[in-house]
Amino acid sequence: MTSLAGKSVLLIVGGGIAAYKVHELVRLLKTRGATVRIILTRAAEQFVTPLSLASLSGEKVYTSLFSLTDEVEMGHIQLSRAADLLVVAPATADLIAKMANGLADDLASTALLATDKRILVAPAMNVRMWRHPATMRNIETLQRDGVTLAGPSDGEMACGEFGPGRMAEPNEILTAIVDMLKPKAQPLAGRKVVITAGPTREPIDPVRFISNHSSGKQGYAIARAAVELGAETVLVSGPVSLPIPPGVQLMPVETAQEMLEICEGEMPADIAIFTAAVADWRVAAEAPEKIKKTGSGPPSLMLAENPDILATISRSAKRPRIVVGFAAETEHVTEHAVQKLKRKGCDLIVANDVSRDAGVFGGDRNTIHLVSATGVEDWPQMSKDDVAQKLMERLAQMLVPQQKTEE
Ligand code: CTP
Repeated sequence: MTSLAGKSVLLIVGGGIAAYKVHELVRLLKTRGATVRIILTRAAEQFVTPLSLASLSGEKVYTSLFSLTDEVEMGHIQLSRAADLLVVAPATADLIAKMANGLADDLASTALLATDKRILVAPAMNVRMWRHPATMRNIETLQRDGVTLAGPSDGEMACGEFGPGRMAEPNEILTAIVDMLKPKAQPLAGRKVVITAGPTREPIDPVRFISNHSSGKQGYAIARAAVELGAETVLVSGPVSLPIPPGVQLMPVETAQEMLEICEGEMPADIAIFTAAVADWRVAAEAPEKIKKTGSGPPSLMLAENPDILATISRSAKRPRIVVGFAAETEHVTEHAVQKLKRKGCDLIVANDVSRDAGVFGGDRNTIHLVSATGVEDWPQMSKDDVAQKLMERLAQMLVPQQKTEE
């Protein structure tokens, strides 16, 4: 039985019939030695009482954002910061919607917004509410934000309907908590990883540019995975609309030239991963003023080739031990990737099969082939987060072969 002694969990209880199950969850956490602080939403107070949970947890139970005594004893910021993990159980559709949209109108939602810790969410609601596109959208948003889900499971609901929406059982939530709190192997501690991500933006004039549709999702997921393995992680990113992953040093850039300069300045590094969709061309001479319509037809733009950042770094004197490139291919995926590997002088090419899965660009899943000098590995379709985790674990193994990374 893994001990949780010294660990502190902030349990946020939403207002649903499943709230009665948190008594058992609190008891299980206490048996493992964890400190459990609890926040009840106003609706949760209709299902469970602060008194019963305070008796079980041995701690004061918090309810109101505007309670003078609560704020004096432990304010909402401190409550969420003092915890090692936040657990939302039961997470009602309403609480999930608030989290997904960053609302903070009570103590529970404020603590969730103020935290810099990991969050586990155990949804519980009627099957139709769970399946509603709004809830599905909110859940997707939370997963993108790095929130972990426990459940919901299938079964008969309090309302008499069947289907997904039942809160995970307390022992399942406990297993997820133990998993999230157990110390992770950090094989990349003391190592530096540089990652490029997103598109570049090449100006035509002060108001126009050439760019592409890269979302940056895969690169950002890799940055998160690198941080998890303990690496000093530098993310050189073109313009994207993604949150900055915690623990990552973000270097925002616009053009390919800027991206190259920043990457060169970040060398030496142990690993460099080039996921950016760098614009192949820039306008040779950016117009200093907005190009006006002259009435004599459209202007001609003279293009110049951008530097190949991957090839430049991989052939530089300060080449990282491991250099990884990405390739988007629609046909002859591995053949082209093998050629690219040689042409760019990198150790691995992660080839995206963009033909089979039209949702790769901007989507959350990816089908990849890992191409090295020794062969090709076909990975099954998986989420961009799973690709990132698996890839970083593989790179850590290549860099530090004597250490076994955690599966
Ligand atoms: N890359 C780079 N700098 C560039 C162009 C590409 O660093 N100026 C990197 C990308 O980040 C990626 C890989 O090189 O890791 C992709 O190579 P690229 O030649 O652009 O391949 P594709 O985009 O797949 O296009 P093509 O097949 O037309 O060569």
